[in-house]
Amino acid sequence: MSEGTNPWQPVCSTADLQPGQFIEFRLTVKAREPEGMPLTGFLFLDDGEPRAYLNQCPHLGIELNWMPGRFMDSDNLFLQCSTHGALFKTGTGECIAGPCQGDALTALELRKQDGQWQIRLPD
Ligand code: FES
Repeated sequence: MSEGTNPWQPVCSTADLQPGQFIEFRLTVKAREPEGMPLTGFLFLDDGEPRAYLNQCPHLGIELNWMPGRFMDSDNLFLQCSTHGALFKTGTGECIAGPCQGDALTALELRKQDGQWQIRLPD
């Protein structure tokens, strides 16, 4: 990202983020990967604490979910990759089971500004 550009991207209004809900978003063009694939991410409340991660499994680099807004395992305890079932801690993104065990999701910095949740675009 070139210097002087705003690294913060609005995701949703703070009122839109409700417990149990996952808000998916596409990062702006400035954060695209070299191949031109837009990165996506998701935002949710983890026991009341907002968290955002890139929607990218550390195993193969593909999106975690097959169904819109569905990121949790059947016990509703861990984030789960739909492809090979890797489980991730909601608070840290650390993979605790599956082919990428020990690796982690990429967390996105968040801030509340002008009634919106905003994520900081990765460099
Ligand atoms: S792609 Fe996520 S566990 Fe394999």
